[in-house]
Amino acid sequence: MEVVPLESSDEVARLAADTIEAAVRARPDAVLGLATGSTPLPTYRELIRRHQAGEGPSYERVQCFTLDEYVGLPSGHPESYRATIARELTDPLGIDPARVHGPDPTGAGLASAGDRYEAELVAAGGVDLQVLGIGSDGHLAFNEPGSSLASLTRIKTLTEQTRRDNARFFGSVDDVPRHVVTQGLGTILRARHLLLLAIGAGKAEALAAAVEGPLTASCPASVLQLHPHASVLADPPAAAAL
Ligand code: GLP
Repeated sequence: MEVVPLESSDEVARLAADTIEAAVRARPDAVLGLATGSTPLPTYRELIRRHQAGEGPSYERVQCFTLDEYVGLPSGHPESYRATIARELTDPLGIDPARVHGPDPTGAGLASAGDRYEAELVAAGGVDLQVLGIGSDGHLAFNEPGSSLASLTRIKTLTEQTRRDNARFFGSVDDVPRHVVTQGLGTILRARHLLLLAIGAGKAEALAAAVEGPLTASCPASVLQLHPHASVLADPPAAAAL
């Protein structure tokens, strides 16, 4: 694992954007794995800025996979991860919505949502570059502490801490869904390059546990230690406990 402490959150965004662009330049039909949450937003804005300035690569042929999705939100809900990633990144980059995939937990298909999504990932040839954030409890995607290190995409229940953390995106914690469909830790480990971004003091403890602590399901992000090509970009407050 390479851990890159950077001087500011802006630098995290710039280097992350450089890494994503390099993956697309190396392979114009790259498969990108995209995290949601606040951490990658400055990176996504930087990619859009460069794209609009005519500096970025063409994204016409890329395919994108979001990591996870809430269960129970009405279709098109602005906080669904499908809507979020379209708004914050893929629409502004001009990526055809048909090339953006995510777990689909709607309706009667919920029980098979994980298997269907895994099949789509395999059909696309797997993820070349997976952008990740880290939860304040060490979660990765929505794999909460205790998740199997070999898990594949499936339904999970959110912890109260994660629901409180994500309440800022909804009216109140009561509006945050209780269930999600998330890539498993085993799914995430199949990506060819993992790029974990950590910004802010709220991530310091979880990041130190993930990078320097034991490999344990109690800190799902510690699975990065098993990956042959994992990069961690952190700003000073997030790197403070390393
Ligand atoms: C969310 C997402 C994760 C994200 C993490 C951190 O709930 N499911 O993919 O990395 O929690 O979120 P944030 O970047 O907003 O702190």
